[in-house]
Order: sequence, then C-alpha cells, then structure tokens
Amino acid sequence: MNNIEQIIKEAVEKIKNADIKALENLKVDYLGKNGVLTQILKSLSQYSVEDKKKIGAQANKAKSIIESEIENRKIFLKQVLLDEKMQKEKLDYSQSFYFPFPKGHFHPVAQTIQDIIVVFKSLGFSVVEGPEIETDWYNFGALNIPENHPARDTQDTFYLDGMKNLLRTHTSPGQIHTMEQHQPPVKVIVPGRVYRNEASDASHSATFHQVEGLAVDENITFVDLKAVLTDFARKFFVSELDIRFRPSHFQFTEPSAEVDMRCMLCGGKGCRVCKNLGWIEILGCGMVHTNVLKAVKYDADRYTGYAFGIGVERIAMLKYGIDDIRLFYENDLRFLKQF
Ligand code: PHE
Repeated sequence: MNNIEQIIKEAVEKIKNADIKALENLKVDYLGKNGVLTQILKSLSQYSVEDKKKIGAQANKAKSIIESEIENRKIFLKQVLLDEKMQKEKLDYSQSFYFPFPKGHFHPVAQTIQDIIVVFKSLGFSVVEGPEIETDWYNFGALNIPENHPARDTQDTFYLDGMKNLLRTHTSPGQIHTMEQHQPPVKVIVPGRVYRNEASDASHSATFHQVEGLAVDENITFVDLKAVLTDFARKFFVSELDIRFRPSHFQFTEPSAEVDMRCMLCGGKGCRVCKNLGWIEILGCGMVHTNVLKAVKYDADRYTGYAFGIGVERIAMLKYGIDDIRLFYENDLRFLKQF
C-alpha cells in the first residue's frame, strides 16, 4: 500500500515539471505495457484474495490519477504553446505599404452562390432577388402555411414590428414575388440570405444562405425536376455523383422530396460525416402545391411547376470538407485565403 502511495507521489512530482516529450515517457514508465503499475497488477496472483482486492483497487486508482495528471499537464502545455504562437502572429502595425496592393477575392459563400448560378443559367434559369424583410403572407401564408400550422415550428422566426413583418426564414417567398409579377412560363433561381432564430453550433447559424429554384409552365412534371437537379448536383460536385430522391414533406410542394448524394468520404459505406447513413442530404424540393398556384392566381388546372431550395453553406461545406459553419462568418484570413 505504502508503496503505491509513494508511486503516485513520485509520479505527480515528475509530471509537474515534464515537457511534452517527458510526459510521453512517463506515460510509458507508469502506464505502459511494462509500466510500474501494470507490473503490480500483473503480479496480483501471488496475494491472498483479500490483499488482491485491496492492492488491485489501489493500483487502478493510481493509474487513473496518473493518467489524468498527465492529460491535465498536456492541456496546460498546449495552451502555453498556443499563447506563444498567438503572441508571435500578432499584427505588426508598423509594417509599411507595399505595391502592388494585394488583391482580395470573393467570400467562399459568394463564390458558391456564383457557382450555383452558373450551373442554373446553363439550364435556362434567370436570377432574381427578393427582400430579406417579408410579411407573414409571403414567408408563410402564400406558401400554404396558415397561421398556427405546426409546420411553422420547423422554422424559428425573428418577428419584427409585433409580428407584422419578419426576417425571411427561407428564400421561398421569392417564388411568390416572381409569380405575382410574371405569368408562366417562369424559370428562376433566387439566391439570398435567410434568418432563423437558432443557437449557433457547428452546423447551425442564425444567418445563412439559400438558393431557391422555381419553374412553372404547362406540362412540367417530376421528371423535369429530377433531370434538372441531377444535372445540377453532377455539375456542382462531380460528374459521376450518385444521388437519390427521398420522399419528404414541405407545405408548399406536393409531392415533396429531399435529395441525398452518396457520401463522397466513405463511398456509401457509412462514416462520421454521413452519420453512418452512406447518404448526405443536399436540398429540399417538390412539385409546387396547387394552393400556392392559387395564392398567386395562377390557373392551377393549366399549369404545374417544381421548386427547390438549396442550402449554400451546407453544400459548400460538403464540397470543400469544412466541418464548422461558423468558419464562414468569423472573417479569419487564414480560412478565407484558402479559397
Ligand atoms: N424552403 C425550404 C426550406 O427552407 C426548402 C424548399 C424549397 C423545399 C423549395 C421545397 C421546395 O427548408
């Protein structure tokens, strides 16, 4: 017993002053295959049952104490290194101007929107924009989401002026503006910023971007939707991309689907990125609901259409292997310069 106490004391003392390399050695010395504590645990068979229990428990406790002391010291040393690095990388305001002045470039979100636009323009779509402040009618009502409908719960909304106006939660109101201003055929995409009242984490942000798509004409069918989105996905990602249409629900489309692409990281076997599904969702879509056509006074017996909504950050993250959406908004040049 005293021996084990002594071992802990000695180890803690050594860990206190160890650098990263010494820590690794201490880990081997105490916890490794032939480490002091492992030896003790291995030799338990020679003791009585009573002693075995006592010594075993003591040795295991010692192991976890030493383990956590080593981890804590490691975390401390890493922080010291980081502090030193930050100190070194501090801005030097005394640096003089230099010519030619360095050129900037588009932000990765703007670049991704441009990439999306290029593909859809090649498929015959025009680009329009809508306001970021909307009324309840444009954001919800006209899109077949009546007041008090549970579908509103899926888009936590920032209301303005006592609920009269709101920050658009999606680019779908762009569909309504377009159809109010133009008779069919219409074929547009609506890129823009949207807002949801969400806490931010690695995959959520209160502000993000979408590109809406809408096509309405006589004789438009789900086949057109599938063809256009398959073409988009293959042009935006890679030409052999495997995608699938999975049945889903949106109030403003019927039938609705979500489009998944086969996970490029694991080839569909299942991994951390695709949450073991082998597929990753890239957008929502469907055939424009007749109630939406009626809301804009289109002849719902004559016209059909499809709509889709693409999350810009989401597909940029998939394309470039970015694992935290917040990186887009921090304006850290070390991140931005990579694009
Ligand atoms: N507006 C939907 C969203 O933000 C996406 C969508 C757009 C779905 C168009 C279908 C058709 O979640």
